[in-house]
Amino acid sequence: MKFKQVYDMVGHLPCTEESQCRLLYDWIMEARPAECLELGFLYGKTSCVIAAALQEIGTGHLTSMDMEGVKHHQGNPNILENLKKTGLQDYVTPVFSPISYTWELKKQIETHSADGRCQPFLDFIFLDGAHLWEPDVCAFFLAMKLLKPGGWFLFDDYLFTIEKSDWWSREPQMKDKPDEYRKESQVERLVTLVVSQHPDIESVTIRDNWVWARKRPDATIPSGPTVAHLTKTVARRWLLEKLFHPKR
Ligand SMILES: C[S@@+](CC[C@H](N)C(=O)[O-])C[C@H]1O[C@@H](n2cnc3c(N)ncnc32)[C@H](O)[C@@H]1O
Repeated sequence: MKFKQVYDMVGHLPCTEESQCRLLYDWIMEARPAECLELGFLYGKTSCVIAAALQEIGTGHLTSMDMEGVKHHQGNPNILENLKKTGLQDYVTPVFSPISYTWELKKQIETHSADGRCQPFLDFIFLDGAHLWEPDVCAFFLAMKLLKPGGWFLFDDYLFTIEKSDWWSREPQMKDKPDEYRKESQVERLVTLVVSQHPDIESVTIRDNWVWARKRPDATIPSGPTVAHLTKTVARRWLLEKLFHPKR
């Protein structure tokens, strides 16, 4: 599907603006990532844009994760309805999490792990979710395990702060947060202190408000040490817990 065609159908939805959607579409058309992951889809605007490019290429798949609650937002159709409207359902698997995308990434790592190694399968990851230090640092480390060597990470909203965000600044849970947290550019800190210091990241490019980071093509897939299970000591502790703290 051409960009104009998909944008005519989803362009009215909030979040990523047209020029960024265009950039994303063109990048997908050029890089042709086979397996994509999006963390944060809201109504599925960028999911539809990515899917339209994959359809145009003729192959590829997007897994997209968000919270269960976005299925029932008032005011806009949800991702399922937008995928139906655009006819792009075959290209996207939406995951509605009751917990967080970091929880869903745990499941992905479980699925792709064997013999103490996580086999990466993703070519492209778009992180456009919380924009907060705790979930997104965690998401980055988990998702890096799933990203193939040579694959790309895209981070939204480099200049984000809670104070500048219409949505987050109104959230009750942010009201009692200290100034240093509300004023911090949390995506910038993630990129500067974590992404660009990661040994498997080869390059980091900031363009407008987006950050592109590439995983080294020669990055290895590490296997951890053998885990020594001292079965008897674990069993004894379990038994003592059962006897003396049955409710824990
Ligand atoms: C900016 S919106 C995504 C917009 C979308 N990429 C687009 O442009 O069409 C951010 C989304 O991230 C989701 N989000 C934030 N933190 C999350 C978390 N910990 N787990 C899952 N989703 C999360 C929010 O529910 C919200 O829908």
